[in-house]
Amino acid sequence: MKITIGSDHGAVELKEEVKKVLAEFEGVEVKDIGTFGKESVDYPDIAEKVCADVVSGAADRGIVLCGTGIGISISANKIKGIRCALCNEIYSAKMSREHNNANVLAMGGRVIGSEVAGQIVRTWMTTEFAGGRHERRVNKIMALENR
Ligand code: RB5
Repeated sequence: MKITIGSDHGAVELKEEVKKVLAEFEGVEVKDIGTFGKESVDYPDIAEKVCADVVSGAADRGIVLCGTGIGISISANKIKGIRCALCNEIYSAKMSREHNNANVLAMGGRVIGSEVAGQIVRTWMTTEFAGGRHERRVNKIMALENR
């Protein structure tokens, strides 16, 4: 599985922690599009780069991080084809895959610590979409893009 990851300056440390967790998974290739320092950057630009890979198929899924996870998840969800879930706890991470087939995970580097983030990522990486009635609902979400 290919994962593209990115963060603004509010979550550069968390991005490194998340990459360590992703390295636990065999066959997972990670592309880090930055940012790499503390200099202020704009989270919509990061969301756009990560999501471009998901939409084009260059990545199977994306992970986006900012201070709260809010701005970058709002940005990601403006992009056609993206179902981004802001998950700062494990139950939402599980449900975002099982019920919503989320293809992008967002977290807040100023909200959660690396241990919780690690468990969220492990859960999100290993939970499959349940399909069935959830598929109908996800299809309806995607149809909203064309209204
Ligand atoms: C940047 O200071 C901060 O606004 C950003 O990381 C994020 O929290 C926005 O939602």
